[in-house]
Amino acid sequence: MRIVILGSGRGSNAEAVLRAQQASALGAARVAGLLSDVPDAGILALGPRFGVPAAYVDPAPFRTKLEGAGEARFIEAVSAHAPDLVVLAGFMRVLKPGFLGAFAGRIINLHPSLLPSFPGLDAIGQAWRRGVRVTGCTVHRVTPEVDGGPILDQEAVRIEPSDTLETLTSKVHAAEHLLLPRVLARLAGP
Ligand code: GAR
Repeated sequence: MRIVILGSGRGSNAEAVLRAQQASALGAARVAGLLSDVPDAGILALGPRFGVPAAYVDPAPFRTKLEGAGEARFIEAVSAHAPDLVVLAGFMRVLKPGFLGAFAGRIINLHPSLLPSFPGLDAIGQAWRRGVRVTGCTVHRVTPEVDGGPILDQEAVRIEPSDTLETLTSKVHAAEHLLLPRVLARLAGP
């Protein structure tokens, strides 16, 4: 199962997946490429470290969505890796029908809350401010409804009285680093 990972930030989840692959804990899944819409994103630095092709793809002309020329460039760059699965790991753009159609049924997303609670931006902050006692993270299939597709798996995180937004954020990230490789291994099979 060839995987392409798209991310806009640190890439800690992509790193967790690559580490799982190194440890032979990803079943038949292989990371074929890393792509980012942010030229200096941490996720791109993982390429040379793990021996995986990594590239910035210009997302212009829009700021928060992937449409038009940028969408076409992403479709081409992702297609070049012939992926069985496209993984959004901190890719902070809304996907439109062109990209969704090009990889129909093959796109999954990692989100830092127990969906359907707290979709959208700053999900950890949303949960923190709402005062829930349990939050977590979700991997789901991507559909045109943002953060709304069928749920594949989730990992729960308790919010203790001693937690701060910072410690909660660390706990959710740690849960994500377990969840995403686990889902990929399951989807890939042995
Ligand atoms: C992760 O917490 C992921 O769930 C979140 O971005 C972070 C990326 O971290 N994604 C979203 O909020 C998508 N709506 P990383 O770059 O270290 O993997």
